Amino acid sequence: MPCAWPSSATTSSDSTSNQAKIDELAAGRLPIFEPGLEEKLREALASGRLLFTTDTALAAHHGNVHFICVGTPQAKGSDAADLTYVDAAVTALAAHLHRKCLIVGKSTVPIGTAGRLTRLVQETAPAGTAVELAWNPEFLREGYAVQDTLEPDRLVFGTASAWAHAQLAACYTSIIDAGTPVVATDLATAELVKVAANSFLATKISYINAMAEVCEATGADVAELATALSYDTRIGGRFLKPGLGFGGGCLPKDIRAFAHRAETLGVGQAVSFLRQVDAINNRRRQRTVDLITELAGGDVTGVQVACLGAAFKPNSDDIRDAPALDVARMLHEAGARVTVYDPQAMPNARRAYPDLDYADGLDEAVAGAGVVALLTEWEQFRQADPAVLLELAAAPCIVDGRHALDADAYRAAGWDYRALGRPVQIGAPPLDFESDLAEARLDLPVAEHSNVRLP
Ligand code: UDX
Repeated sequence: MPCAWPSSATTSSDSTSNQAKIDELAAGRLPIFEPGLEEKLREALASGRLLFTTDTALAAHHGNVHFICVGTPQAKGSDAADLTYVDAAVTALAAHLHRKCLIVGKSTVPIGTAGRLTRLVQETAPAGTAVELAWNPEFLREGYAVQDTLEPDRLVFGTASAWAHAQLAACYTSIIDAGTPVVATDLATAELVKVAANSFLATKISYINAMAEVCEATGADVAELATALSYDTRIGGRFLKPGLGFGGGCLPKDIRAFAHRAETLGVGQAVSFLRQVDAINNRRRQRTVDLITELAGGDVTGVQVACLGAAFKPNSDDIRDAPALDVARMLHEAGARVTVYDPQAMPNARRAYPDLDYADGLDEAVAGAGVVALLTEWEQFRQADPAVLLELAAAPCIVDGRHALDADAYRAAGWDYRALGRPVQIGAPPLDFESDLAEARLDLPVAEHSNVRLP
Protein backbone atom coordinates (compact mmCIF):
# COMPACT_ATOMS: atom_id res chain seq x y z
CA MET A 1 0.00 0.00 0.00
CA PRO A 2 1.21 3.57 -0.63
CA CYS A 3 1.40 4.55 3.05
CA ALA A 4 -1.97 2.73 3.14
CA TRP A 5 -4.99 3.78 1.16
CA PRO A 6 -7.32 6.49 2.30
CA SER A 7 -9.61 5.00 4.95
CA SER A 8 -8.27 1.62 3.96
CA ALA A 9 -9.75 -1.53 5.36
CA THR A 10 -7.40 -2.88 7.96
CA THR A 11 -6.26 -6.44 8.17
CA SER A 12 -5.91 -7.71 11.68
CA SER A 13 -7.14 -5.20 14.18
CA ASP A 14 -10.49 -5.42 15.92
CA SER A 15 -10.28 -1.82 17.10
CA THR A 16 -9.66 -0.30 13.69
CA SER A 17 -11.44 -2.63 11.29
CA ASN A 18 -14.35 -1.43 9.22
CA GLN A 19 -16.98 -4.09 8.63
CA ALA A 20 -18.73 -2.16 5.85
CA LYS A 21 -15.52 -1.93 3.80
CA ILE A 22 -14.67 -5.58 4.41
CA ASP A 23 -18.17 -6.51 3.17
CA GLU A 24 -17.67 -4.41 0.03
CA LEU A 25 -14.34 -6.04 -0.70
CA ALA A 26 -15.72 -9.52 -0.05
CA ALA A 27 -18.43 -8.74 -2.62
CA GLY A 28 -15.75 -7.78 -5.18
CA ARG A 29 -16.31 -4.04 -4.94
CA LEU A 30 -13.42 -1.67 -4.40
CA PRO A 31 -14.19 1.22 -2.02
CA ILE A 32 -11.56 3.38 -3.77
CA PHE A 33 -10.81 4.32 -7.39
CA GLU A 34 -7.66 2.54 -8.56
CA PRO A 35 -7.32 1.57 -12.24
CA GLY A 36 -7.20 -2.21 -12.80
CA LEU A 37 -7.48 -3.16 -9.13
CA GLU A 38 -11.15 -4.18 -9.05
CA GLU A 39 -10.55 -6.68 -11.86
CA LYS A 40 -7.66 -8.15 -9.87
CA LEU A 41 -9.83 -8.29 -6.75
CA ARG A 42 -12.56 -10.21 -8.58
CA GLU A 43 -10.08 -12.61 -10.16
CA ALA A 44 -8.59 -13.35 -6.75
CA LEU A 45 -12.01 -13.86 -5.13
CA ALA A 46 -13.04 -16.19 -7.94
CA SER A 47 -9.89 -18.27 -7.37
CA GLY A 48 -11.09 -19.01 -3.82
CA ARG A 49 -7.69 -18.02 -2.41
CA LEU A 50 -8.69 -14.60 -1.08
CA LEU A 51 -10.74 -14.10 2.06
CA PHE A 52 -11.74 -10.88 3.85
CA THR A 53 -12.51 -10.92 7.55
CA THR A 54 -12.54 -8.74 10.64
CA ASP A 55 -11.92 -11.82 12.77
CA THR A 56 -8.33 -11.48 14.00
CA ALA A 57 -8.22 -15.01 15.44
CA LEU A 58 -9.23 -16.43 12.06
CA ALA A 59 -6.56 -14.35 10.30
CA ALA A 60 -3.94 -15.45 12.83
CA HIS A 61 -4.89 -19.09 12.41
CA HIS A 62 -4.87 -18.84 8.60
CA GLY A 63 -1.53 -17.22 7.88
CA ASN A 64 2.11 -18.22 8.11
CA VAL A 65 3.04 -14.75 6.88
CA HIS A 66 0.98 -11.75 8.05
CA PHE A 67 1.32 -8.45 6.16
CA ILE A 68 0.46 -5.32 8.15
CA CYS A 69 -0.65 -2.64 5.69
CA VAL A 70 -2.49 -0.12 7.85
CA GLY A 71 -2.00 3.64 7.64
CA THR A 72 0.44 5.81 9.57
CA PRO A 73 -1.13 9.27 9.15
CA GLN A 74 0.29 12.45 10.58
CA ALA A 75 -0.51 12.66 14.29
CA LYS A 76 -2.91 15.43 15.31
CA GLY A 77 -1.04 18.54 16.43
CA SER A 78 2.39 17.06 15.62
CA ASP A 79 4.65 16.23 12.69
CA ALA A 80 5.15 12.71 14.03
CA ALA A 81 3.57 9.64 12.47
CA ASP A 82 0.53 8.28 14.29
CA LEU A 83 1.35 4.64 15.00
CA THR A 84 -1.97 3.83 16.66
CA TYR A 85 -3.19 1.66 13.81
CA VAL A 86 0.04 -0.28 13.35
CA ASP A 87 0.33 -0.91 17.08
CA ALA A 88 -3.32 -1.97 17.33
CA ALA A 89 -3.03 -4.37 14.38
CA VAL A 90 0.16 -6.00 15.64
CA THR A 91 -1.05 -6.22 19.25
CA ALA A 92 -4.36 -7.79 18.26
CA LEU A 93 -2.70 -10.27 15.94
CA ALA A 94 0.06 -11.26 18.37
CA ALA A 95 -2.47 -12.40 20.97
CA HIS A 96 -3.61 -15.16 18.59
CA LEU A 97 -0.25 -16.41 17.29
CA HIS A 98 0.31 -19.94 18.58
CA ARG A 99 2.87 -21.18 16.04
CA LYS A 100 6.01 -20.07 14.26
CA CYS A 101 5.14 -17.37 11.74
CA LEU A 102 6.30 -14.07 10.26
CA ILE A 103 4.72 -10.64 10.66
CA VAL A 104 5.70 -8.33 7.79
CA GLY A 105 5.32 -4.59 8.13
CA LYS A 106 4.58 -2.64 4.95
CA SER A 107 3.44 0.59 6.59
CA THR A 108 5.73 3.63 6.47
CA VAL A 109 7.06 3.97 10.02
CA PRO A 110 9.68 5.92 11.97
CA ILE A 111 13.03 4.16 12.26
CA GLY A 112 13.05 1.94 15.32
CA THR A 113 9.41 0.87 15.07
CA ALA A 114 10.18 -2.63 13.79
CA GLY A 115 12.58 -3.26 16.66
CA ARG A 116 9.99 -2.11 19.18
CA LEU A 117 7.25 -4.21 17.59
CA THR A 118 9.51 -7.28 17.56
CA ARG A 119 9.88 -7.00 21.34
CA LEU A 120 6.14 -6.41 21.76
CA VAL A 121 5.18 -9.42 19.66
CA GLN A 122 7.70 -11.79 21.20
CA GLU A 123 6.60 -10.78 24.71
CA THR A 124 2.86 -11.09 24.05
CA ALA A 125 2.39 -13.84 21.43
CA PRO A 126 1.72 -17.31 22.88
CA ALA A 127 4.37 -18.59 20.42
CA GLY A 128 6.90 -16.11 21.89
CA THR A 129 10.20 -15.79 20.04
CA ALA A 130 9.02 -18.23 17.37
CA VAL A 131 7.19 -15.25 15.89
CA GLU A 132 9.52 -13.02 13.85
CA LEU A 133 9.05 -9.62 12.34
CA ALA A 134 10.27 -8.32 8.99
CA TRP A 135 9.94 -4.97 7.22
CA ASN A 136 9.13 -4.89 3.52
CA PRO A 137 8.38 -1.29 2.45
CA GLU A 138 5.95 -0.61 -0.35
CA PHE A 139 6.79 1.87 -3.09
CA LEU A 140 3.67 1.82 -5.25
CA ARG A 141 2.10 4.97 -6.56
CA GLU A 142 -1.63 5.54 -6.49
CA GLY A 143 -3.03 5.28 -9.98
CA TYR A 144 -0.37 2.66 -10.82
CA ALA A 145 -0.90 0.31 -7.89
CA VAL A 146 -1.32 -2.87 -9.93
CA GLN A 147 1.64 -2.22 -12.22
CA ASP A 148 3.93 -1.08 -9.41
CA THR A 149 3.02 -4.13 -7.31
CA LEU A 150 3.48 -6.72 -10.03
CA GLU A 151 6.49 -5.06 -11.67
CA PRO A 152 8.29 -3.17 -8.89
CA ASP A 153 11.66 -1.48 -9.46
CA ARG A 154 13.02 -3.40 -6.46
CA LEU A 155 12.02 -5.40 -3.41
CA VAL A 156 13.44 -4.54 0.00
CA PHE A 157 13.51 -7.28 2.63
CA GLY A 158 14.46 -6.10 6.11
CA THR A 159 14.82 -9.25 8.20
CA ALA A 160 16.53 -10.54 11.31
CA SER A 161 17.09 -14.13 10.12
CA ALA A 162 17.65 -16.25 7.03
CA TRP A 163 14.34 -17.99 7.77
CA ALA A 164 12.43 -14.68 7.61
CA HIS A 165 14.16 -13.80 4.34
CA ALA A 166 13.18 -17.18 2.89
CA GLN A 167 9.52 -16.64 3.85
CA LEU A 168 9.45 -13.29 2.06
CA ALA A 169 11.24 -14.67 -0.98
CA ALA A 170 8.60 -17.41 -1.19
CA CYS A 171 5.81 -14.80 -1.16
CA TYR A 172 7.43 -12.93 -4.04
CA THR A 173 8.69 -15.88 -6.10
CA SER A 174 7.15 -14.86 -9.43
CA ILE A 175 8.32 -11.24 -9.10
CA ILE A 176 11.86 -12.31 -8.16
CA ASP A 177 11.90 -14.83 -11.02
CA ALA A 178 11.06 -11.96 -13.39
CA GLY A 179 14.43 -10.43 -12.51
CA THR A 180 13.40 -7.85 -9.92
CA PRO A 181 16.37 -6.85 -7.73
CA VAL A 182 16.05 -7.79 -4.05
CA VAL A 183 17.83 -5.72 -1.42
CA ALA A 184 18.36 -7.88 1.66
CA THR A 185 18.98 -5.75 4.71
CA ASP A 186 18.29 -5.19 8.39
CA LEU A 187 15.05 -3.87 9.88
CA ALA A 188 16.22 -0.29 10.46
CA THR A 189 17.58 0.14 6.93
CA ALA A 190 14.36 -1.24 5.44
CA GLU A 191 12.33 1.28 7.44
CA LEU A 192 14.66 4.07 6.34
CA VAL A 193 14.54 3.17 2.63
CA LYS A 194 10.90 4.19 2.34
CA VAL A 195 11.17 7.59 4.01
CA ALA A 196 14.47 8.26 2.26
CA ALA A 197 12.90 7.51 -1.13
CA ASN A 198 9.84 9.69 -0.50
CA SER A 199 12.04 12.49 0.85
CA PHE A 200 14.19 12.38 -2.26
CA LEU A 201 11.15 12.54 -4.54
CA ALA A 202 9.65 15.42 -2.54
CA THR A 203 12.99 17.24 -2.66
CA LYS A 204 13.19 16.87 -6.42
CA ILE A 205 9.72 18.34 -6.87
CA SER A 206 10.41 21.22 -4.48
CA TYR A 207 13.75 21.82 -6.15
CA ILE A 208 12.16 22.50 -9.53
CA ASN A 209 9.43 24.55 -7.86
CA ALA A 210 12.11 26.62 -6.13
CA MET A 211 13.62 27.16 -9.59
CA ALA A 212 10.14 28.25 -10.71
CA GLU A 213 10.18 30.96 -8.06
CA VAL A 214 13.52 32.17 -9.41
CA CYS A 215 12.06 32.07 -12.93
CA GLU A 216 9.11 34.15 -11.78
CA ALA A 217 11.51 36.82 -10.55
CA THR A 218 13.68 36.82 -13.65
CA GLY A 219 11.40 36.10 -16.59
CA ALA A 220 13.02 32.73 -17.26
CA ASP A 221 10.85 29.76 -18.21
CA VAL A 222 10.81 26.87 -15.73
CA ALA A 223 9.27 24.49 -18.26
CA GLU A 224 12.22 24.96 -20.61
CA LEU A 225 14.61 24.82 -17.66
CA ALA A 226 13.14 21.48 -16.53
CA THR A 227 13.39 20.10 -20.06
CA ALA A 228 17.03 21.15 -20.32
CA LEU A 229 17.82 19.60 -16.92
CA SER A 230 15.99 16.38 -17.77
CA TYR A 231 18.37 15.55 -20.63
CA ASP A 232 21.18 15.21 -18.11
CA THR A 233 20.92 11.52 -17.33
CA ARG A 234 22.36 12.16 -13.86
CA ILE A 235 19.31 14.32 -13.11
CA GLY A 236 16.55 12.74 -15.21
CA GLY A 237 13.11 14.16 -15.93
CA ARG A 238 10.93 12.17 -13.54
CA PHE A 239 9.55 14.08 -10.56
CA LEU A 240 10.87 17.27 -12.10
CA LYS A 241 7.46 18.57 -13.14
CA PRO A 242 6.94 22.08 -11.77
CA GLY A 243 3.57 23.43 -10.74
CA LEU A 244 1.26 23.25 -7.77
CA GLY A 245 3.48 20.80 -5.92
CA PHE A 246 2.97 17.54 -4.12
CA GLY A 247 0.12 16.35 -1.94
CA GLY A 248 -1.46 13.04 -1.04
CA GLY A 249 -1.29 10.69 1.89
CA CYS A 250 2.45 10.01 1.65
CA LEU A 251 4.98 12.63 0.56
CA PRO A 252 3.84 15.56 2.79
CA LYS A 253 3.39 13.59 6.00
CA ASP A 254 6.39 11.34 5.38
CA ILE A 255 8.88 14.21 5.11
CA ARG A 256 7.43 15.78 8.27
CA ALA A 257 7.54 12.49 10.20
CA PHE A 258 11.10 11.87 8.99
CA ALA A 259 12.29 15.30 10.08
CA HIS A 260 10.53 14.83 13.42
CA ARG A 261 12.07 11.39 14.01
CA ALA A 262 15.53 12.64 13.03
CA GLU A 263 15.18 15.45 15.56
CA THR A 264 14.26 12.99 18.32
CA LEU A 265 17.32 10.91 17.34
CA GLY A 266 19.52 13.98 17.64
CA VAL A 267 20.29 14.17 13.90
CA GLY A 268 17.66 16.75 12.98
CA GLN A 269 20.25 18.98 11.32
CA ALA A 270 21.00 16.27 8.76
CA VAL A 271 17.53 16.51 7.30
CA SER A 272 16.61 20.09 8.24
CA PHE A 273 16.42 20.82 4.49
CA LEU A 274 13.16 18.83 4.50
CA ARG A 275 11.54 21.73 6.38
CA GLN A 276 12.43 23.91 3.38
CA VAL A 277 11.14 21.27 0.96
CA ASP A 278 7.82 21.39 2.83
CA ALA A 279 7.77 25.20 2.91
CA ILE A 280 8.51 25.54 -0.83
CA ASN A 281 5.74 23.05 -1.50
CA ASN A 282 3.19 24.85 0.63
CA ARG A 283 4.06 28.19 -1.00
CA ARG A 284 2.95 26.81 -4.38
CA ARG A 285 -0.64 26.77 -3.22
CA GLN A 286 -0.65 30.41 -2.15
CA ARG A 287 1.24 31.46 -5.28
CA THR A 288 -1.33 29.71 -7.44
CA VAL A 289 -4.07 31.62 -5.63
CA ASP A 290 -2.04 34.82 -6.18
CA LEU A 291 -1.78 34.14 -9.90
CA ILE A 292 -5.52 33.46 -10.18
CA THR A 293 -6.15 36.68 -8.27
CA GLU A 294 -3.84 38.58 -10.62
CA LEU A 295 -5.78 37.26 -13.62
CA ALA A 296 -9.05 38.19 -11.91
CA GLY A 297 -7.85 41.80 -11.84
CA GLY A 298 -6.41 41.84 -8.33
CA ASP A 299 -9.47 40.72 -6.39
CA VAL A 300 -11.40 37.46 -6.58
CA THR A 301 -14.41 38.67 -4.61
CA GLY A 302 -17.49 37.51 -6.50
CA VAL A 303 -15.41 36.14 -9.39
CA GLN A 304 -16.47 32.71 -10.63
CA VAL A 305 -13.43 30.43 -10.66
CA ALA A 306 -13.60 27.00 -12.30
CA CYS A 307 -11.33 24.65 -10.34
CA LEU A 308 -10.55 21.68 -12.57
CA GLY A 309 -9.47 18.82 -10.34
CA ALA A 310 -9.80 17.90 -6.68
CA ALA A 311 -7.73 14.72 -6.30
CA PHE A 312 -4.09 15.11 -5.25
CA LYS A 313 -3.12 13.69 -8.64
CA PRO A 314 -4.86 12.21 -11.68
CA ASN A 315 -6.11 8.60 -11.79
CA SER A 316 -6.94 8.73 -8.10
CA ASP A 317 -9.93 9.76 -6.00
CA ASP A 318 -7.66 10.47 -3.04
CA ILE A 319 -8.04 14.01 -1.69
CA ARG A 320 -5.70 13.75 1.30
CA ASP A 321 -3.65 16.96 1.45
CA ALA A 322 -4.75 17.66 -2.12
CA PRO A 323 -3.19 20.90 -3.42
CA ALA A 324 -6.20 21.37 -5.75
CA LEU A 325 -8.74 21.44 -2.94
CA ASP A 326 -6.50 23.64 -0.82
CA VAL A 327 -6.44 26.20 -3.64
CA ALA A 328 -10.23 25.92 -4.05
CA ARG A 329 -10.69 26.42 -0.30
CA MET A 330 -8.39 29.47 -0.21
CA LEU A 331 -10.19 31.05 -3.16
CA HIS A 332 -13.55 30.39 -1.49
CA GLU A 333 -12.30 32.00 1.72
CA ALA A 334 -11.09 35.00 -0.32
CA GLY A 335 -14.64 35.52 -1.61
CA ALA A 336 -14.48 33.82 -5.02
CA ARG A 337 -17.43 31.77 -6.31
CA VAL A 338 -15.64 28.46 -6.72
CA THR A 339 -16.94 25.60 -8.85
CA VAL A 340 -15.03 22.34 -8.56
CA TYR A 341 -15.10 19.40 -10.96
CA ASP A 342 -13.07 16.19 -10.79
CA PRO A 343 -13.69 13.03 -12.81
CA GLN A 344 -13.38 10.68 -9.79
CA ALA A 345 -12.94 12.56 -6.52
CA MET A 346 -16.32 14.33 -6.32
CA PRO A 347 -17.85 12.23 -3.50
CA ASN A 348 -14.72 12.59 -1.36
CA ALA A 349 -14.41 16.31 -2.12
CA ARG A 350 -18.07 17.01 -1.36
CA ARG A 351 -17.76 15.22 1.98
CA ALA A 352 -14.59 17.09 2.96
CA TYR A 353 -15.54 20.53 1.61
CA PRO A 354 -19.35 20.79 1.64
CA ASP A 355 -19.21 24.61 1.36
CA LEU A 356 -17.77 24.60 -2.17
CA ASP A 357 -19.93 24.40 -5.30
CA TYR A 358 -19.53 21.37 -7.51
CA ALA A 359 -20.26 20.87 -11.21
CA ASP A 360 -21.33 17.62 -12.85
CA GLY A 361 -18.90 17.96 -15.73
CA LEU A 362 -16.09 19.96 -17.26
CA ASP A 363 -18.37 22.12 -19.41
CA GLU A 364 -20.62 22.98 -16.48
CA ALA A 365 -17.59 23.94 -14.36
CA VAL A 366 -16.17 26.24 -17.02
CA ALA A 367 -19.50 27.82 -18.04
CA GLY A 368 -19.49 31.47 -16.98
CA ALA A 369 -16.09 31.30 -15.29
CA GLY A 370 -14.05 34.48 -14.95
CA VAL A 371 -10.89 32.40 -14.41
CA VAL A 372 -10.32 28.72 -15.17
CA ALA A 373 -7.70 26.93 -13.03
CA LEU A 374 -6.31 23.53 -13.95
CA LEU A 375 -5.33 22.02 -10.61
CA THR A 376 -5.16 18.25 -11.28
CA GLU A 377 -3.95 17.15 -14.70
CA TRP A 378 -6.61 14.58 -15.60
CA GLU A 379 -6.40 13.40 -19.22
CA GLN A 380 -9.91 14.76 -19.83
CA PHE A 381 -8.70 18.28 -19.04
CA ARG A 382 -5.53 17.90 -21.09
CA GLN A 383 -7.54 16.77 -24.10
CA ALA A 384 -10.17 19.52 -23.86
CA ASP A 385 -10.48 21.81 -26.88
CA PRO A 386 -9.35 25.33 -25.91
CA ALA A 387 -11.72 26.87 -28.47
CA VAL A 388 -14.72 25.04 -27.02
CA LEU A 389 -13.78 26.03 -23.47
CA LEU A 390 -13.36 29.64 -24.57
CA GLU A 391 -16.96 29.69 -25.82
CA LEU A 392 -18.14 28.56 -22.39
CA ALA A 393 -16.05 30.81 -20.15
CA ALA A 394 -16.99 34.39 -19.32
CA ALA A 395 -13.39 35.58 -19.66
CA PRO A 396 -10.37 34.11 -21.52
CA CYS A 397 -8.24 33.62 -18.42
CA ILE A 398 -6.63 30.30 -17.57
CA VAL A 399 -4.06 29.28 -14.95
CA ASP A 400 -2.36 25.99 -15.70
CA GLY A 401 -1.41 24.89 -12.19
CA ARG A 402 0.14 21.67 -13.46
CA HIS A 403 2.01 22.78 -16.60
CA ALA A 404 -0.12 20.21 -18.39
CA LEU A 405 -1.75 22.19 -21.18
CA ASP A 406 -0.39 23.27 -24.55
CA ALA A 407 0.35 26.93 -23.90
CA ASP A 408 0.67 27.76 -27.60
CA ALA A 409 -2.68 26.13 -28.43
CA TYR A 410 -4.44 28.02 -25.65
CA ARG A 411 -2.87 31.33 -26.63
CA ALA A 412 -3.70 30.70 -30.28
CA ALA A 413 -7.32 30.09 -29.30
CA GLY A 414 -7.39 33.48 -27.56
CA TRP A 415 -6.75 32.57 -23.92
CA ASP A 416 -4.56 34.56 -21.56
CA TYR A 417 -2.62 31.46 -20.49
CA ARG A 418 -0.55 31.62 -17.30
CA ALA A 419 1.54 29.09 -15.41
CA LEU A 420 3.75 29.67 -12.39
CA GLY A 421 7.37 30.02 -13.43
CA ARG A 422 6.54 30.68 -17.07
CA PRO A 423 6.68 34.11 -18.64
CA VAL A 424 3.51 35.76 -19.92
CA GLN A 425 4.88 35.68 -23.45
CA ILE A 426 6.79 32.46 -23.96
CA GLY A 427 9.76 33.07 -26.22
CA ALA A 428 9.92 36.80 -25.38
CA PRO A 429 13.43 38.33 -25.33
CA PRO A 430 15.35 37.87 -22.08
CA LEU A 431 15.40 40.49 -19.39
CA ASP A 432 17.90 43.30 -19.57
CA PHE A 433 19.40 42.79 -16.14
CA GLU A 434 21.55 45.88 -16.51
CA SER A 435 18.60 48.22 -16.70
CA ASP A 436 17.66 50.24 -13.64
CA LEU A 437 14.05 49.34 -14.15
CA ALA A 438 14.70 45.64 -14.03
CA GLU A 439 16.86 46.04 -10.93
CA ALA A 440 14.23 48.15 -9.23
CA ARG A 441 11.50 45.64 -9.99
CA LEU A 442 13.61 42.71 -8.89
CA ASP A 443 13.85 44.35 -5.48
CA LEU A 444 10.09 44.00 -5.13
CA PRO A 445 8.65 41.06 -3.19
CA VAL A 446 8.31 38.26 -5.72
CA ALA A 447 4.52 38.05 -5.47
CA GLU A 448 4.17 41.59 -6.78
CA HIS A 449 5.57 40.73 -10.16
CA SER A 450 5.03 36.99 -10.17
CA ASN A 451 4.88 35.51 -13.64
CA VAL A 452 5.04 38.90 -15.31
CA ARG A 453 7.73 39.44 -17.93
CA LEU A 454 9.39 42.71 -17.32
CA PRO A 455 9.70 45.15 -20.18
C1 UDX B 1 4.28 8.34 -3.53
C2 UDX B 1 5.56 7.64 -4.02
O1 UDX B 1 5.79 8.00 -5.39
C3 UDX B 1 5.43 6.12 -3.89
O2 UDX B 1 6.64 5.51 -4.24
C4 UDX B 1 5.09 5.79 -2.44
O3 UDX B 1 4.86 4.40 -2.29
C5 UDX B 1 3.86 6.53 -2.00
O4 UDX B 1 4.04 7.93 -2.19
P1 UDX B 1 1.84 8.76 -4.52
O5 UDX B 1 1.56 9.49 -3.25
O6 UDX B 1 0.84 7.79 -5.04
O7 UDX B 1 3.23 7.94 -4.40
O8 UDX B 1 2.03 9.87 -5.64
P2 UDX B 1 3.22 10.41 -6.56
O9 UDX B 1 3.05 9.89 -7.93
O10 UDX B 1 4.52 10.20 -5.91
O11 UDX B 1 2.88 11.97 -6.58
C6 UDX B 1 2.87 12.72 -5.36
C7 UDX B 1 2.54 14.16 -5.61
O12 UDX B 1 3.62 14.78 -6.29
C8 UDX B 1 1.30 14.41 -6.47
O13 UDX B 1 0.54 15.44 -5.85
C9 UDX B 1 1.85 14.86 -7.79
O14 UDX B 1 0.97 15.74 -8.45
C10 UDX B 1 3.12 15.56 -7.37
N1 UDX B 1 4.16 15.59 -8.41
C11 UDX B 1 4.72 14.43 -8.87
C12 UDX B 1 4.63 16.82 -8.87
O15 UDX B 1 4.16 17.87 -8.45
N2 UDX B 1 5.64 16.83 -9.81
C13 UDX B 1 6.20 15.70 -10.29
O16 UDX B 1 7.12 15.79 -11.13
C14 UDX B 1 5.73 14.45 -9.82
